[in-house]
Order: sequence, then C-alpha cells, then structure tokens
Amino acid sequence: MDHNMASKVIEVKGLKKWFPLRRSFFSALFGRWEHRYLKAVDGVNFSVNPGEVLGLAGESGCGKTTTGMTITKLYQPTSGKILFHQQDVAAIEGRKGLKEFRKNAQIVFQNPYESLNPRFTVLQSIEEPIKIHYAVSREERHKMVILALERAGLVPPGYFLDRYPHELSGGQLQRVAIARAISIEPAFLVADEPVSMLDVSIRAGILNLLRYFSRELHMGILYISHDLSTMKHICNSIAIMYLGRIVEMGVSQQVLNEPRHPYAKALVSAVPLMRGRFQRKRIILEGAVPNPIDLPAGCRFRPRCPKAEKVCRDEEPELMLLGDGRQVACHLYH
Ligand SMILES: Nc1ncnc2c1ncn2[C@@H]1O[C@H](COP(=O)(O)OP(=O)(O)OP(=O)(O)O)[C@@H](O)[C@H]1O
Ligand code: SF4
Ligand SMILES: [Mg+2]
Repeated sequence: MDHNMASKVIEVKGLKKWFPLRRSFFSALFGRWEHRYLKAVDGVNFSVNPGEVLGLAGESGCGKTTTGMTITKLYQPTSGKILFHQQDVAAIEGRKGLKEFRKNAQIVFQNPYESLNPRFTVLQSIEEPIKIHYAVSREERHKMVILALERAGLVPPGYFLDRYPHELSGGQLQRVAIARAISIEPAFLVADEPVSMLDVSIRAGILNLLRYFSRELHMGILYISHDLSTMKHICNSIAIMYLGRIVEMGVSQQVLNEPRHPYAKALVSAVPLMRGRFQRKRIILEGAVPNPIDLPAGCRFRPRCPKAEKVCRDEEPELMLLGDGRQVACHLYH
C-alpha cells in the first residue's frame, strides 16, 4: 500500500458491528426464529489524520473496544466502510494483503500481562513482528528491537532484552507491549485503555509516548479511554460515544471545555478537574444505561436525557456539523 502522508490514515463510514445473539431454548421451542443482535457499534463515522491523536470516550459497554478491534480487522464489520489511506480495507484479501495491513495498523490493549507471551523474553516478543514483516538480517533486526525499546522509553535497552515478563513491573510491561506494536512502524495505532490498569504515578509517562509517536513519527492514533482527564493532554480531537454511536466529536478543547450534547455535558461534568467556566455543577444522569439489544426508539439517549422533547422519541438524530466545526447528534442543535 502506498503511504500518502496527506491523506487520512483511517476513515470510518457508517461502521456497524452487531453480534448475533444465541436463541434461548424456549424461543427455539416456540418457533421464534427471528435473529436478534447486540448492536455494539451501530453507525460510526470518524477519521484520523497522520500525526493526530483522536480520543474515543464513553461509559463501559458503549462500544469503544469493538470499534478499535473492528477497524484493525480483528472483527469483521457487519456493515460500513473502513478506508486505510483511502483504500477499502474490506477489499484486502489473502494472507499477503492481511499481513501488509497488520504491519500498518496495530493495537495495544489494556492488560500487558495478557498481551505478552510469558515464555518469551523481551527480545523475543519484540522481534516476532519484525521477523514477520521485514526480511532483514539478525543484526538489523536487533537494531530495530533496540530502537523500539528506546522509543518506548525502556533504557538502557540492553537491560531489558533478556528479561521475562514476570521480572518486569506493570508499567514496564506495557512499554514492552507498546515497543512490540511500534517496532514495525505502523501508520496507525489503536491504544485501548493503555494506562487504566497502571498506577496513577506512571500513567503520564506512557501517555507521553503516544504524543511522541504522533508528533515525531506521524502515526495516526485512536486513543480509547473512559477517562476524559487523560485525554486533555494527548488528544487533538475527541469523540464521545454512547450506545454504539458517536454523539459529539470535535477539537479537544471544544469538547472538554464546552460540550454541547447533553450526554457529553454529563460526562465532562463528572470529572472534577474539568468543571471549568462553563460547567460548574455535576450533572447526575437518571435511569440506567439501556442495553445495546433493545435500544429505545428515536434518540438512544432519550431515557436519560434531561432535555428530551417529543421529536427525540420519533427520530434518531444524526451527527451534524455545527458552525464552530464540531459535530453533534442532538435535535437541540438541528
Ligand atoms: N465478542 C463479543 N460478543 C458479544 N458481545 C460483545 C462482544 N464484545 C463486546 N460485546 C458487547 O458489546 C458491547 C460493547 O462492548 P465493548 O467491549 O466494545 O465496550 P467498551 O466501550 O470497550 O467497554 P469498556 O469501557 O468496559 O471496555 C457490550 O454490550 C459488550 O457486552
Ligand atoms: S436528541 Fe433529544 S433526547 Fe437526544 S440528546 Fe438531544 S435533547 Fe436529549
Ligand atoms: Mg473496552
């Protein structure tokens, strides 16, 4: 694939990922054969430029991880388009095509204890993807491992090469997992809650790595987190997700300082440090989060929305561009 620095690294259009539900014994017995789905991702649009960090935020279960896994081709999308440097990812076929895509789109997960093989040394873990993607000599490979360790802040690299995961701290392990992902210099990286299992004291160091990868290596990054306060420092733009859909998206300062969507307002107001000039009081949402199987008619936030009107019951609001450049899916602004 050609890498065109000017084009969006990833573009997602109308992406859906529905998981089919197993029929219960009784529904099968009584002949109810209709298929039911859990709509984890239900019509999502966004794009990431080279060198940009887009934050994807929202409550647990809103579909963040499913989005990350679908756009890195770990899940097959139900419908919609994923374009990588303007090329349709769905058209990638065969082992060779998939291998090339994997080289360019990597994902780092929340739990470094699960993402690394406990029987592999750090060297073995990091050189594995290099072996798959580069036909280079052993010396060249070694140099790439050292560079990846340095870029991930594991210095001196020689100290880490022969260590096993059980000899390292959680923060060091996550840096190894990150070094492994960036060792092959992907154009796009998904970081799914990369610091939420780590001590608060070491989180900033890991997040700074992401900023460094975006600025210095021009990677496009999708940073997934339920924690808006970590997004302030590293994201250029932020998308707020609710029940499988993006409800607000824009430049970080806009979304965090002056959110417009009622759900985005509530989410921002729940972070004490973010209650700035515009949002002093915490907004407590009533009602439970509906589940992604039986979604309410109209706006999916309606059952909890303090501003709901009649139209909200009748029509699902689409994400629309406001005058200030941000996008909001809410009838109040249409
Ligand atoms: N493989 C799967 N099969 C069936 N349902 C799934 C699967 N993966 C996720 N789900 C469901 O899809 C919805 C979205 O899950 P997802 O893990 O994407 O949310 P999330 O926003 O990442 O949440 P968290 O903040 O807890 O990580 C949830 O209702 C979840 O139970
Ligand atoms: S569309 Fe209506 S229910 Fe939905 S967020 Fe806006 S005001 Fe609330
Ligand atoms: Mg998740």
